[in-house]
Amino acid sequence: MHLLLTGGTGLIGRALCQRLLAQGHRLTVLSRDPRRVARFCGPQVQAWTSLQSWRDADGIEAVINLAGEPIADAAWSARRQQLLRDSRVALTQQLVARMRALQQPPQVLLSGSAIGFYGEGGEGVLDESAPQGADFSAQLCADWEAAALPAGTLGVRVALLRTSVVLSAEGGMLARVLPPFRLGLGARLGDGRQWFSWIHIEDQLRAILFLLENSSCSGAYNLSAPQALRNTEFTQALARQLHRPARLVTPAWALRTLLGERASLLLGSQRVLARRLPDAGFAFDYPQLAPALAQLLAR
Ligand SMILES: NC(=O)c1ccc[n+]([C@@H]2O[C@H](COP(=O)([O-])OP(=O)(O)OC[C@H]3O[C@@H](n4cnc5c(N)ncnc54)[C@H](OP(=O)(O)O)[C@@H]3O)[C@@H](O)[C@H]2O)c1
Repeated sequence: MHLLLTGGTGLIGRALCQRLLAQGHRLTVLSRDPRRVARFCGPQVQAWTSLQSWRDADGIEAVINLAGEPIADAAWSARRQQLLRDSRVALTQQLVARMRALQQPPQVLLSGSAIGFYGEGGEGVLDESAPQGADFSAQLCADWEAAALPAGTLGVRVALLRTSVVLSAEGGMLARVLPPFRLGLGARLGDGRQWFSWIHIEDQLRAILFLLENSSCSGAYNLSAPQALRNTEFTQALARQLHRPARLVTPAWALRTLLGERASLLLGSQRVLARRLPDAGFAFDYPQLAPALAQLLAR
């Protein structure tokens, strides 16, 4: 199958490219920098810098849309918020507009989103039927999803990847927290009672492939391991794996002062339940945190 990926050079995208190539698929990656495609996705992967390159003759059957300016990297100034939106919402709108211009749109669009869709969830269990939250990330995710859904009117099957924090040895959240934890400087965040939802990169890839292959799957899917934990439990589990103490506390006020609105990414509570994936027959390889961390840290 010929697939088009956006964000194919990112943490999830490059691992996905390796998996899809190993399965014998042909890949095209839309990227701002074709050299990154050759480097991170492989020399056999075709790189596009514009969607205008997409023709019916390309025979693209599936699109996996993962592009997005990293959300945690810089303060959410008005300019930054626009960049976060444009790299997701505007790009997704362009994707769908391009599909509309084709005689033969793809069969399926798997489009990025995040559990940020639900906003602050407190103690409540958030399955796919939970309502949209009210903060900036929630609106961003909702608009990102809303940009993808119109592809459905073209006969394209649309599945939305509401992704929780992806744990990978190659980057992302785990790579950021490992250095202090390895030094014994692991710290609970705020009161540590906030729920943390996560997924092992391997399950993230398997879930994407599952949604690609199962033609009855459409709509929103939570990509989140069954065992959500409180921040304190995550902190202790990671420290245990590293045989280090984690007795420190980063006060909520310090995070809010340092990070502003972005502190919600660390202090917000999201107890997410992936209901629709298991209902469709998907089983997680890493449902529990301790074995997931053990596997990632052993590499
Ligand atoms: N990793 C997580 O824990 C997590 C959790 C929830 C949701 N997500 C979402 O899932 C998607 C993939 O995650 P990831 O961790 O693989 O992301 P990533 O490593 O940050 O990569 C995202 C990709 O998006 C492209 N991109 C970045 N800024 C862009 C911009 N301003 N305009 C256009 N394209 C841009 C880049 O491709 P080029 O440089 O090749 O253009 C990059 O490779 C993201 O949209 C992210 O928000 C991730």
